[in-house]
Formats: sequence, structure tokens, C-alpha cells
Amino acid sequence: MQRTVLLAVAAAAGLGWFAPGPGAVTAAPVNYKIPDEVAAFKPGPNLEVVQGNCTACHSADYVNTQPPMKDRKAFWQAEVTKMIKVYGAPIDDADIGKIVDYLAATY
Ligand code: HEC
Repeated sequence: MQRTVLLAVAAAAGLGWFAPGPGAVTAAPVNYKIPDEVAAFKPGPNLEVVQGNCTACHSADYVNTQPPMKDRKAFWQAEVTKMIKVYGAPIDDADIGKIVDYLAATY
């Protein structure tokens, strides 16, 4: 029993939990600057509908980082349909057209 206690004390001292002596390693504070928030949707018509429907599961970066494409309307129509059918996004039928129009016009 006594041996266990001694081991625990030795381990704690080794980790610097007790009054760190001259040789103790002190952790320097880490300064880390968080990158600016860039994940915002660009301004455009029906922006508020997009913000209301497309930010619940992931950031706007998913939209911002799509490569340029030829038929933007068809692409975004397919994307929005996929969000609803595959990922279960609860988007009103009435909003689908507005979202696709915004995305095709803005991205
Ligand atoms: C119910 C949750 C949910 C909602 C709401 C949602 N998404 Fe997604 N989205 C996902 C998931 C899950 C992925 C795939 C993530 C991954 O692959 O890491 C994804 C991926 C994407 C991608 C990347 C390309 C791809 O097909 O994987 C785009 C673009 C995208 N979403 C756009 C949208 C838009 C536009 C809306 C609004 C109409 C939206 N999302 C709403 C869940 C959602």
C-alpha cells in the first residue's frame, strides 16, 4: 500500500505537479491566431433563403469551393436535390427554385 502511494508521489513530482524546481519544464503559452471567418455566402437575390436552408449541416465553404462549371443551373439543381434526397435536408419545395436561382446567378 505504502509503495503505491510513494510511486504516485514520484510520478506527480516528475510531471511537475509539485512546486516546479529549477529544472522543471514550464509550458510556454501558445499564441494561435484563428483564421478569419471566410465561410459566408456571397450577396445575391434570395440570400436569406440560402442562409436559412444551407447552413445547418456545413459551412458556406462547401458552396464557395465548387469549381467553375458549364451548366451552373443544372449543377446547382442537382446539388440541392442531392442535399434533400441523400442527406435529408429539410428544404421546402417552394424554396428550391429560389436557392437554385441564387446559386446559379452567384456562383
Ligand atoms: C441535412 C444536412 C445538409 C443540409 C441542410 C445541406 N447540406 Fe450540403 N452537404 C451535406 C453533406 C452531408 C455533404 C457531404 C459532406 C462531405 O462529403 O464531407 C454536403 C455537401 C455539400 C456540397 C459539396 C459537394 C457535394 O456534393 O458533396 C455542396 C456544394 C453542398 N453541400 C451544398 C449545399 C447547399 C447549396 C445547401 C442548401 C440548399 C446544402 N448543401 C444543405 C449535408 C447538408
